[in-house]
Amino acid sequence: MKATATAPANIAFIKYWGRLNHDLFLPLTTTNSMNLSACTATTTIEFGAKTDSIVISDSEGNAKEIKNVAGEKDGMLFKTLDRIRERSGIKGGATVTSELSFPMGAGIASSAAGMAAFVAAGYAAAGNKKVTEDLEELSREIRLSGSVSAARSSHDGFTEHLFGMSNEDAYTVQIASEDHWDLVDLVAVLSPEEKKISSSLGHRLADSSPFMQARIEYLKDKPDLARKAILDKDFESLATLSEIDTINMHAVMMTSNPPAFYFAPASIDIIKAVTDWRESDGIPVFYTFDAGPNPHVITTSKSAPEVLKRLQAHPEVQFVLENIPAPGVRITDNE
Ligand code: DP6
Repeated sequence: MKATATAPANIAFIKYWGRLNHDLFLPLTTTNSMNLSACTATTTIEFGAKTDSIVISDSEGNAKEIKNVAGEKDGMLFKTLDRIRERSGIKGGATVTSELSFPMGAGIASSAAGMAAFVAAGYAAAGNKKVTEDLEELSREIRLSGSVSAARSSHDGFTEHLFGMSNEDAYTVQIASEDHWDLVDLVAVLSPEEKKISSSLGHRLADSSPFMQARIEYLKDKPDLARKAILDKDFESLATLSEIDTINMHAVMMTSNPPAFYFAPASIDIIKAVTDWRESDGIPVFYTFDAGPNPHVITTSKSAPEVLKRLQAHPEVQFVLENIPAPGVRITDNE
């Protein structure tokens, strides 16, 4: 009745923003990403306590007890424990501890790593092999816990969560393993600010942007093109697709009602710098952003030391997390 799982966060190339169905967390598009080696969560869950308790700690020794707040991501953790118990036919409160490999206030989308490890550890602790031994089913369960980005972390390396009209049809598949391509994602951490509009709320607001329909039109062939660029190791195509996609998504965010502004002034500054490094200095490099101010600056292993040096020299960059493509979720202990 006790298990531990480790899972990585990931960075999307074709992003998920807005949902077809908010109860089933069905994304409006197929979305693909690369798992991140330096941004992981390790979660242990044991059933058998009187009540549920969840404590998250980070690389700097900060610890936070999660409260059961309905509707938000925190509340979803408690709902997910109920779902795990119900689907696995077990009883008993869960004692959950989760450790992040990076600072929790750093504005990095930690939910992908956290939710993936949480769901895997929960089903393993509940002894539910129907879920833990079927990665597609595990990805559905991770999505149902409230996070499509986390569902992409179910498989190793480069993955995609498929668009589907039902729970059955929406699941994650692998595009390529972590050894396929030596990309590096340098996350330049700018600001430890909490997001004013959470992703959960943002997905609900997406439809209020007049540009969301245009985004859906534009997205039609993009997941296929990004998958092909990954399979062909075509850096230039992936760079163009990713940069256009992230700006397109942020245009939807900024034109929703109310608008969601995630960029900081330094985010724009780094967009311009990265474009210049590529166009004037010939460095293979591109940027992409989640729902936050921190640029993910993607390059090759050969150019990573130079790009790292340049990012570290930026006055607004507090620190840089260096990631290579990583395995997906792993159950590391199961008693
Ligand atoms: C902008 O609700 O899956 O990162 O943002 O980590 O809470 P969190 O997860 P989720 O939304 C992801 C939104 C995104 C784009 C993406 O990763 O596809």
